[in-house]
Amino acid sequence: MQMKEFSGTKDLTERSYEIAHKQIAREAAAEGFVLLKNEAHVLPFSENCEIALFGAGAVKTVKGGTGSGNVYSRHTVSVWEGMEKAGFQITNRNWLESYERLYEDARMKWKEIVWARADELSKKPRGIGPLFEAYMITPFDIPAGELSGIGAGDKAVFVLARNAGEGADRRLEKGDYYLLDQEHELLKAVCSSYKKVVLIINAGGAVDLEFTEEFPNIKSILYISQPGQEAGHAVSDVLLGKVSPSGKLTATWPLRYEDIPFAEEYSYLNGDTDHDYYRQGIFVGYRYFDTFEKPVRYGFGHGLSYTNFSIKIKDIIQNNDTLSLTALVQNTGPVAGKEVLQVYASCPQGRLQKEYRRLTGFAKTKLLQPSETEEIIVSFPIRALASFDEKMCAWILEKGRYGIFAGGSLETATYSAFADLQEDVVLELLRHICPLGEELEELTPDADCIRKKRSVLEEEPSKGPGLLLAVDGFAAKQVVYGRYDGADEDENLAIVKKLSREQKIKLCTGDFTDKNDQGAIGAAGWTIPGTAAQTSSCAVEEGVPSVALADGPAGIRLVMEYQVIDGKPIVPTLEESIEGGLLLREEKKKGDETWYQFCTAFPVGTLIAQTWNRSIMKQFGRAIGEEVDEFNIRFWLAPGMNIQRNPLCGRNFEYYSEDPLLAGITAASVTEGVQSRPGRGVTIKHFACNSQENNRMHVDAVISERTLREIYLKGFEIAVKTSQPMAIMTSYNLINGIHAANNYDLCTKLARDEWDFGGIIMTDWTTTNQGPDCTAAGCLRAGNDLIMPGRQSDHDNINMELDAGTLSPEELDRSTARIVKVLR
Ligand code: BGC
Repeated sequence: MQMKEFSGTKDLTERSYEIAHKQIAREAAAEGFVLLKNEAHVLPFSENCEIALFGAGAVKTVKGGTGSGNVYSRHTVSVWEGMEKAGFQITNRNWLESYERLYEDARMKWKEIVWARADELSKKPRGIGPLFEAYMITPFDIPAGELSGIGAGDKAVFVLARNAGEGADRRLEKGDYYLLDQEHELLKAVCSSYKKVVLIINAGGAVDLEFTEEFPNIKSILYISQPGQEAGHAVSDVLLGKVSPSGKLTATWPLRYEDIPFAEEYSYLNGDTDHDYYRQGIFVGYRYFDTFEKPVRYGFGHGLSYTNFSIKIKDIIQNNDTLSLTALVQNTGPVAGKEVLQVYASCPQGRLQKEYRRLTGFAKTKLLQPSETEEIIVSFPIRALASFDEKMCAWILEKGRYGIFAGGSLETATYSAFADLQEDVVLELLRHICPLGEELEELTPDADCIRKKRSVLEEEPSKGPGLLLAVDGFAAKQVVYGRYDGADEDENLAIVKKLSREQKIKLCTGDFTDKNDQGAIGAAGWTIPGTAAQTSSCAVEEGVPSVALADGPAGIRLVMEYQVIDGKPIVPTLEESIEGGLLLREEKKKGDETWYQFCTAFPVGTLIAQTWNRSIMKQFGRAIGEEVDEFNIRFWLAPGMNIQRNPLCGRNFEYYSEDPLLAGITAASVTEGVQSRPGRGVTIKHFACNSQENNRMHVDAVISERTLREIYLKGFEIAVKTSQPMAIMTSYNLINGIHAANNYDLCTKLARDEWDFGGIIMTDWTTTNQGPDCTAAGCLRAGNDLIMPGRQSDHDNINMELDAGTLSPEELDRSTARIVKVLR
């Protein structure tokens, strides 16, 4: 066996974990693909059939997004490669080959533009460094492809590709949300030359699909999101019917972008990126479209299959604080497939106005053979029916009828059962958090309209089963605040007491190697090349190890190859660590040895959630656990679990859903998988309200407490309470005027006092580079323990505030003790 001196291997042979994880990546991707449309059963195709293949995504399939969410793997199987390997007869290789050349030229031109911007920006250096800033604000425009060489025939596949990443929102422009003129022309030519066209959408989120109305030959639409390195194989599995699609949308695709409430105000669209007014209140995504009866293009939970299912509800029962709905799901179609049973509740409209329906639980069947039936139980806590009453500052259940809808999507879910509540119930009494600093008028639906919609539920006796909710044992929970203001008198604090002030500050500010005090984003770690950061080694002798942190969420983000010179691994520069080294201006220095770190690029977060399959989510998490173990990484900087509030958010691909329950359950399941490896942990991020990437360090989320708690914090709450993640990462933005990182309400009152979070809270990278309102000492005061990736200025700031008495020694000890507890 090779002696392991450095991270990874010198041997290029594929390792057993790589082979196993390729298979997991392929299965997870295929299970998450959503068949949006399939007229006349054009799909699946028969084996060996002739197909013409077009579109950027056919040749350069986008495996995942850019920035810290980009995972490097040995190879991405494009749709073209996957289809050829699966035996399809591709009829237009010339077009595909010429596209490849066109694309490579466009990449080189883009590199020049990025560097020209970086050189310009370096004249006025700002927080995150000119190259990274230039890279973030200069998205690569994927070329459309030639109009010549289209040919003619029966079947064609067109793969539309889009990319996005941190630091910039997607653009409501041609080439991003809309088709480029040239793409439109190409599609027109393809649709007039081929009878049956399958459109594959290879994008991190929704794109405008109005054009599909123009081209009746587009018979099928398959949404593959960004499927990771095994993309082409997974696509072929579904095109050939080896896998019947069973993914479901986790966000609504509107008919037109303008149909989204306050769409025109989002991010840069109204010229104000400093403020983000959450005027739609709780009516986010389907909660808006369903309540306000707005038609959509493809709704929440939608996804077709190659087979059909029938769903019969058997009963509903209450067991203490849980409701369980039992259903029989039968495969009534011709081939094997899986179905997702989605359960929605319509809560009574009392003092509080509510959305018409909300997701309260779901479960996926096993692979059902034709005619096979499975009994499925969907259980959910009664708390999932509660709303937050700002006046009382409490989670409450209002009396009345809770209509339970069940089905294979929101649209097809039918009124199936009910639960009646005879009196109002207060579940939990809390203190206010994150108060609004200004008036905010929120969207409210017409009360009569909702009452009319609900009258069917309230007046007619339900045909399905029902029950009277028993709430005798539901005494209102009272939270004791302030319990976490000091450190616990335990063995961790005993270790901290032996450390010097310098050591404590170092433990709370990471190990900084960056001489320019910039804290290189995504590449500040040094023992494991390409890691995002490393904690300090100053207290190793006292038993506190120095550990590495690496990005995700679509795998482990490391550099794939690094050099060792004079017995030392060379820490990759930013140029080397983004875009797989494409931005390097000079050839990389050749060392004495080359080492490799082979990681798997899995499907992006949205695609994992689109499986609606907890066991796949856990299996994915276990695979991540194995890879973080392999590379000795303590904290995986994922899952990303912000709410997909608007399709233009640049990081939506990393996130799971517009629905907090689905986001929370997905994050909890992935966490359980990763943390099944002893000592390895996740970092759920970005806490909270990271809904906008433009100006992400300064944008203020102006939001009501009810909306914050019901929509934007709910998923985090579910993840913390269900799976105790090892860490939470705060977001860059402000919430009602206070930076999330410096926010005591968020970090202490909510995460610790209310949710009993026992791990560590860390900042996002270089958060504290934003002026006097967001400082390292401010973070510690708020209960944010680890300042990442740590800079000399953070160290100095803490020292200065300790001397001034504005940061107490107890506050420093409290955070240090939490770090010691988790690292030991
Ligand atoms: C991102 C984080 C990431 C960190 C480290 C930041 O730019 O917002 O999500 O974990 O960099 O790479």
